Amino acid sequence: MQKLYKPLLFSVSLIPFGVLIYNGFRDNLTANPIEYITHYTGDWTLYFLLITLSITPLRNLTGKLIFTCFRRMLGLFAFFYACLHFLTYFVLDQYFDFNAIIEDIIDRPYITVGFTAFVLLIPLAVTSTKKMISRLGSNWQRLHKLIYVITTLAILHYLWLVKADTTLPITFALIFSVLMTLRLPWAKNVKKFFISEIQPSSH
Ligand code: HEM
Repeated sequence: MQKLYKPLLFSVSLIPFGVLIYNGFRDNLTANPIEYITHYTGDWTLYFLLITLSITPLRNLTGKLIFTCFRRMLGLFAFFYACLHFLTYFVLDQYFDFNAIIEDIIDRPYITVGFTAFVLLIPLAVTSTKKMISRLGSNWQRLHKLIYVITTLAILHYLWLVKADTTLPITFALIFSVLMTLRLPWAKNVKKFFISEIQPSSH
C-alpha cells in the first residue's frame, strides 16, 4: 500500500511547484511576479507545515498507522517550499544584497520570525533520514518538537506582515490550535468514545 501511496503523494506535493513553473512559462504571474512567487511559496510552506502536523491527530483518531509513513515526506516538502520562498526573497527580491538582508532581519519583526522559522527547519530536514533517527535516539523526538515552534513563528510571520485583513493568518492560527489540541492525550479517548457508541458492549 505504502509503495503505491508514497509516489502518488510525492507527485501531488509537486503540483503547486509545477503550477508555478507552468504559470511562469506562460508569463502568468501577475503584474508583480516576485511578490506573487513570494506569497505563493510562503502559502505552500504553511500549508505543508499544517498538513504535516495533521498526521498524528489523523493517526490517533482513525487508529491507522499508515498515516505516519507520509509524515517525513510532507515535512520535507514544507522545507522544499520554504527554500523556494527564502530563495525568492534572497535572489529575486534582494539580489544577494547581504547587508540589506541582515538589516531586514534585524529591523523588520516579521522577517526576523520568518527567518528564525526557516533556520529552525534546517536541522529537522537534515535529521530526517533513517540513519539520523536511529543515531539520535530519543533526542530525535525532542528535536523534532521544534515543528511546533516553527509553525507558531510562521503564523506570527504571516500575522505581522499582513497590513489590514488578518482573517487568513487567524484562520491558520485556529487550525493550528485545533491540531495541537487533538494531540493531547484525551484526544485518543475521543476515538474510543465514538467506537464504544457505535459498538456498545454486549453486557
Ligand atoms: C517557515 C518559514 C516561513 C513560512 C511558513 C512563511 C510563510 C509566509 C506566508 C504565509 C506569507 C504570506 C503569503 C500571502 O500573503 O499569501 C509570507 C510572506 C512573505 N515572507 Fe515568508 N515565510 C517563511 C519564511 C520567510 C523567510 C525566511 C523570509 C525572508 C527572510 C520570508 C519573507 C517573506 C516576505 C518578504 C513575504 C511577503 C511580504 C509582503 O508581501 O509584504 N519568509 N511568508
